[in-house]
Amino acid sequence: MEIINHLQPGPDGHAAVYTKIVKGVEMEHPKEAVVLVVGGGGRCHAIVDALSRSPQVGKIYCAPGNAGIAAQAECVPLKETQVEQLRDFAREKGVDLTVVGPEVALAAGIVDVFTAAGLRIFGPSKAAAVIESSKDFAKQLMAKYNVPTAAYRTFEDYDAALEYVRNGSFPVVLKYDGLAAGKGVVIPETFDEAEHTLKDMLLDDKFGKGKVVVEEFLTGPEFSFMCFVDGGNVYPMALSQDHKRAYEGDKGPNTGGMGAYSPLPFISDEDKEYAMEHIMKPVASAMVKEGRPFKGVLYGGLMKTPSGIKVIEFNCRFGDPETEVVLPLLESDIYDIFSAVADGGPMPEIKWEDKSSMGFVMASKGYPGSYDKGHVIEGLEDASDPDVRIYHMGTAEKEGKILTAGGRVLMVIGSGDTLKSAHDKALEAVGKIKCDNLFYRRDIGWRVL
Ligand code: AMP
Ligand code: GLY
Repeated sequence: MEIINHLQPGPDGHAAVYTKIVKGVEMEHPKEAVVLVVGGGGRCHAIVDALSRSPQVGKIYCAPGNAGIAAQAECVPLKETQVEQLRDFAREKGVDLTVVGPEVALAAGIVDVFTAAGLRIFGPSKAAAVIESSKDFAKQLMAKYNVPTAAYRTFEDYDAALEYVRNGSFPVVLKYDGLAAGKGVVIPETFDEAEHTLKDMLLDDKFGKGKVVVEEFLTGPEFSFMCFVDGGNVYPMALSQDHKRAYEGDKGPNTGGMGAYSPLPFISDEDKEYAMEHIMKPVASAMVKEGRPFKGVLYGGLMKTPSGIKVIEFNCRFGDPETEVVLPLLESDIYDIFSAVADGGPMPEIKWEDKSSMGFVMASKGYPGSYDKGHVIEGLEDASDPDVRIYHMGTAEKEGKILTAGGRVLMVIGSGDTLKSAHDKALEAVGKIKCDNLFYRRDIGWRVL
């Protein structure tokens, strides 16, 4: 028996009409979709916010969520990696669709577990998520399918890696072959530094037990190209750029991202077309050919080098903090997009607003090193504005007060007709937020302003 669940916006713009076609017999009754978002940072806040703009979505759960997300979704005290418990929760609450934010849940096989239980879920299987969780896999795939990327070699043996690096040039790029929360890439300028890093990675297993990819150092502006992917079908999102270094002037240690903006004036339509045709589409097709069809968001971390656009990395999920600036520009109903990918159904036309978006991350002093939690944040109400969104990255609520509860705490996003106006809107709002333990980079978007 074929059952097709089809949701359409209801007449009042909120209640949706649920059409169930069973063997050609149509039965209509009102139904608002119940959605579970897995994750708890700024990226999930942006996903929850986009879902809450959908007239088809009634109830949103978010596990574990955070104090900001709690205003738009019911937070559930389950961790991203409690995959079986999340499945049981989804079953019990009649969740129509689950959307996964972080890679740890995907690498833990959440999509396989939900799919086996007959639950609809947006995200790649564990077999497809390796495109992010193993740098070595991603490099081999690119080599096999001629996708432009930095030259590389993979090592398990410390002495062999050291010998290779000794004979190469500097800086050199050393990547730990596994998930390391954005901290698995080190770019030593000297042989001594490289020796030290290789020792950490291969002898002392400081990142875990894994191989090391040694890569050629590339130069040029980096950008993030996220696409909705359903097997061989690839649908581009607006381009964005992240700012990974902790301090102004792109100085200091690498972080999970200190700010982002979209669109990118320095990436032409031809560049985007090239990246689609030579990188994103071939990789999606390659994953199908390799028996690991990708469903979800494929994130290309790309660089515009003097010798063309090349891949720095792939992620198997929405970027953070890119999602926080990109999804506010989405005009189409995100529930339709997620459903089309989850069901392998036809994709509606995806429309983007012709506007700009720029976001500033407010992080705890000390981040990405150690930092305190529990500092009171004030002024969130004063900062509110129709052109400003405040996504919570790491906050908690206690006795009606919002407290810092993570390294990256808030992301303040402005939107406007130009990047400059988006920048000004965001910074004005940032200035109204008061907390004695937060810092931010004022120079987000320096390349384009
Ligand atoms: P990844 O975690 O692979 O995105 O790497 C983190 C950062 O290291 C990237 O955003 C780049 O800034 C830098 N990086 C990685 N690979 C290279 C490379 N081959 N050449 C230059 N920089 C790189
Ligand atoms: N912004 C980089 C990432 O999401 O991995």
